[in-house]
Amino acid sequence: MFLLKGITVSAENIYKEYGSVKALRGVSLRVYEGEIYGLVGPNGSGKTTLLRIIAGLVKPSRGVVRVYGYDPYEDFKETRRYIGYLPEDANTYDLLTGYEHLELYAKIYGLGEDVVKYGEELSQLGSRLRDLASTYSRGMKRRLLLAIVLMRKPRVALLDEPTSGLDVHASVNVRDTIKRYVLETGATIIVSSHNMLEIEYLCTRVGLIYRGVIVDEGSPRELIEKYNASNLEEVFVKAVGELSREHY
Ligand SMILES: Nc1ncnc2c1ncn2[C@@H]1O[C@H](COP(=O)(O)OP(=O)(O)OP(=O)(O)O)[C@@H](O)[C@H]1O
Ligand SMILES: [Mg+2]
Repeated sequence: MFLLKGITVSAENIYKEYGSVKALRGVSLRVYEGEIYGLVGPNGSGKTTLLRIIAGLVKPSRGVVRVYGYDPYEDFKETRRYIGYLPEDANTYDLLTGYEHLELYAKIYGLGEDVVKYGEELSQLGSRLRDLASTYSRGMKRRLLLAIVLMRKPRVALLDEPTSGLDVHASVNVRDTIKRYVLETGATIIVSSHNMLEIEYLCTRVGLIYRGVIVDEGSPRELIEKYNASNLEEVFVKAVGELSREHY
């Protein structure tokens, strides 16, 4: 397939049905190299489904997805080299230390000591890396899991709610890690969240997803201006309000 310059992830008219449930109803997006693209929407709006489709873990019912020109589902072997995926429900192994997690995944990826070092740095867990993961708080586990995803420097990182359940301090930490990662590597990030303020702070571009459709898209500033709103939360309410009058 012809690969447009700068576009790393594209989705054209994606549908996904689970039985009678329409999880996605014609989603299209294009994400460029070096972008942090945010998917925001309420529970059940299709964020995880879309990320799993881009990760090549789920086959769409209809539509075309490309990651660096490859179909992530059909060419899974090829695209898994580019893609790092943090699932919303990822967990750690109780009987391994944080450090052992980093070593284990470096081995699985066939990578060396420098990758473990980078993982240590990304996790910001310091000496706590020597403790069993069972002793970690939720925020510490999330930071370890994010480090595991990013340490092998994926060109495309798909992060499903990386800060869910974290306190303000831990969330700021994770957001800074994501921003720094993009600055250092020029990679592409797609991140999902319920937290509109977080997305406003973190993302270069945002897709507002509601009932399986991206209802609007743009930089946080563009959207705030377009809807004459004071923040992204207000944008969402206005965008979805218009849609619900039109279609439901
Ligand atoms: N494996 C599955 N089997 C059946 N239905 C599913 C499956 N996965 C998702 N769905 C349905 O698809 C819709 C979208 O779910 P999805 O998990 O993508 O939403 P989400 O935006 O990630 O929600 P949340 O914010 O709660 O994580 C929901 O109605 C959900 O019940
Ligand atoms: Mg989800």
